[in-house]
Amino acid sequence: MSHHKVRITVNGVTREDEIEARLLLVHYLREVRGLTGTHVGCDTSNCGACTVLLNGRTVKSCSVLAVAADGGEVLAIEGLASNGELSPVQKGFQQCHGLQCGYCTPGMVMAATGLLLENPHPTDDEIRQGIKGNLCRCTGYEMIVDSVRWAANNGGPGEAAVRHAQLQQS
Ligand code: FES
Ligand code: FES
Repeated sequence: MSHHKVRITVNGVTREDEIEARLLLVHYLREVRGLTGTHVGCDTSNCGACTVLLNGRTVKSCSVLAVAADGGEVLAIEGLASNGELSPVQKGFQQCHGLQCGYCTPGMVMAATGLLLENPHPTDDEIRQGIKGNLCRCTGYEMIVDSVRWAANNGGPGEAAVRHAQLQQS
């Protein structure tokens, strides 16, 4: 089994790890970095529970090999809060009851954050488009759309996500 040394920054913390070539980014985050906020819902690139930002773009981390993130920057759900305060998207889900069981929520929040980085003032249709790769079995989506609209009107993607995106431009 081939192993590779990778250097990946996750939520601002850079580390080198020796990993198997076949390790998926989602398993790297959960098992190697201990960041279990990123969920695995399907492992087949359908549900979006594993969504994170990689180098400024949303990706389904079950569809990316960890070695492909070598030298890169990941922002995962644990890195969204800034100075102990939830990001606007996290607050939006709280304010508008955008979750029930919560299983899809980390991926939804990351997908919504990526959407607001690209489009700070989306229409409801654009919100629906932005989260269409993320499945929720509980909410019927209406309150998720409300949550993202709330975030767009109350601070957008948030400081940590803006910082992450700016790093990619510098
Ligand atoms: Fe990645 Fe479902 S676990 S899309
Ligand atoms: Fe349960 Fe979305 S809140 S799957």
